[in-house]
Amino acid sequence: MRMQKILMLTGALLALAVQAAWAADAARGKQLHDQYCIDCHSGMVGGDGTLLYKRKDRRVKSYEALLKQINRCDQSLGLKWFPEDVADVAAYLNREFYKFPAK
Ligand code: HEC
Repeated sequence: MRMQKILMLTGALLALAVQAAWAADAARGKQLHDQYCIDCHSGMVGGDGTLLYKRKDRRVKSYEALLKQINRCDQSLGLKWFPEDVADVAAYLNREFYKFPAK
């Protein structure tokens, strides 16, 4: 009986861990973005760096392109982000600015 309970608990914890690992976290993405990314963009536009994502001739036209561009900027920064970090920032930028259809 006890063993069964322990197994069930372990299963539930595992499921939670997997969910945490796979669901992109836009709130965490915003933190990463505001810590590492916004300053350079702000310097470029001479003000609020998020204008870069809202301008009419913005470069990014799809979710895939968004991931690519984040990777490009990550590389030029030399951050060596994990794919989870990129996914979190993409989730944030998409939710706030790009609004590509959810996949
Ligand atoms: C050293 C400066 C610099 C840093 C730091 C930087 N970027 Fe960029 N970012 C750029 C430049 C340059 C462009 C291209 C702008 C253009 O071509 O008009 C750009 C463009 C972008 C775009 C596309 C905007 C559009 O037009 O749709 C996204 C998204 C983006 N950056 C995300 C990020 C993220 C996420 C980070 C943090 C990991 C980051 N950037 C850090 C310089 C930087």
